[in-house]
Amino acid sequence: MTTTSTLSDWMKQSQAQIETALMHFLPSDLITPTHLHQAMRYAVLDGGKRVRPLLVYAAGELFSAGHSELTRAACALEMIHAYSLVHDDMPCMDDDALRRGKPTVHVKYGQATALLVGDALQAQAFLILAQGHCPAERQLEMLQILAHSSGSLGMCGGQAIDLDSVGLNLTRDQLEQMHQLKTGALLRASVLLGALCGQQLNATEHAALNRYADAIGLAFQVVDDILDATADSAALGKTAGKDAANNKPTYVSILGLEASQQLAQQLRHEAHAALESFHGQSSTTARTQRLSQLADFIVERSA
Ligand code: IPE
Ligand code: IPE
Ligand code: MG
Ligand code: MG
Ligand code: MG
Repeated sequence: MTTTSTLSDWMKQSQAQIETALMHFLPSDLITPTHLHQAMRYAVLDGGKRVRPLLVYAAGELFSAGHSELTRAACALEMIHAYSLVHDDMPCMDDDALRRGKPTVHVKYGQATALLVGDALQAQAFLILAQGHCPAERQLEMLQILAHSSGSLGMCGGQAIDLDSVGLNLTRDQLEQMHQLKTGALLRASVLLGALCGQQLNATEHAALNRYADAIGLAFQVVDDILDATADSAALGKTAGKDAANNKPTYVSILGLEASQQLAQQLRHEAHAALESFHGQSSTTARTQRLSQLADFIVERSA
């Protein structure tokens, strides 16, 4: 879709493409074990904002990446994200009954199946990314980024810190580290994988994308914390007020609501500033448009 379409039209079209691709890349629920495959499809399909896939497409636009490779990377990221949500909602973690406006996977299918859904989605994500057609060196780099961002030095590590922090008064630095890992890591991977679908990055491009990703990654979780405290469950499609109920340290509990909102705005400006290093030519300025608009969306969203 051209860069002249509105963000909302571009998002709708991209979300529809992702939905079709996810249906294709997930095992059919007619294949044994049908119950597990049904639960995997329930966890991934028909819900969510698809922010990670949108970031893959937006970064791919900047580096003129091909659509089918972007879609593959986007689906891999969304499967890892969906798995993280299934496990995050389990009774041993946040104990949530509502996700994306539906009963959580463990509520509908039981805890053992929910555990396996997460395990299997993670494996499926690596499988579909490994079957991509980028030059081998870049494909390998993408796999490494996905592994690193999902594991104990990325999302899982952030989730571990989150669980260890219940009831604690974290410092601002500790809170930032937790958020950068549990949420920022996969958002950064989305931006980098989208770019790598197009080309190998030089050091300047890499640094600028990292600065952009750091800003939106933190902003995303700051806004998630704000929405948990201010929005209602119907709008969120998940149980509002859970952070306070679970005694989780969040930006809202540590900085307060107003300072958290100001921080989100500051991070939005940092994200825009990071994109300026791509503004050398008019063609590349235009191609940063979606990344720039997604930074706005991440901060302004209401769900
Ligand atoms: C929620 O992620 C969990 C966090 C990492 C903050 P999203 O807000 O992206 O959830 P969906 O995918 O739209 O449901
Ligand atoms: C979850 O953070 C982050 C991951 C799933 C990795 P939260 O626990 O704040 O997410 P929500 O609010 O349940 O979506
Ligand atoms: Mg959690
Ligand atoms: Mg949670
Ligand atoms: Mg939350």
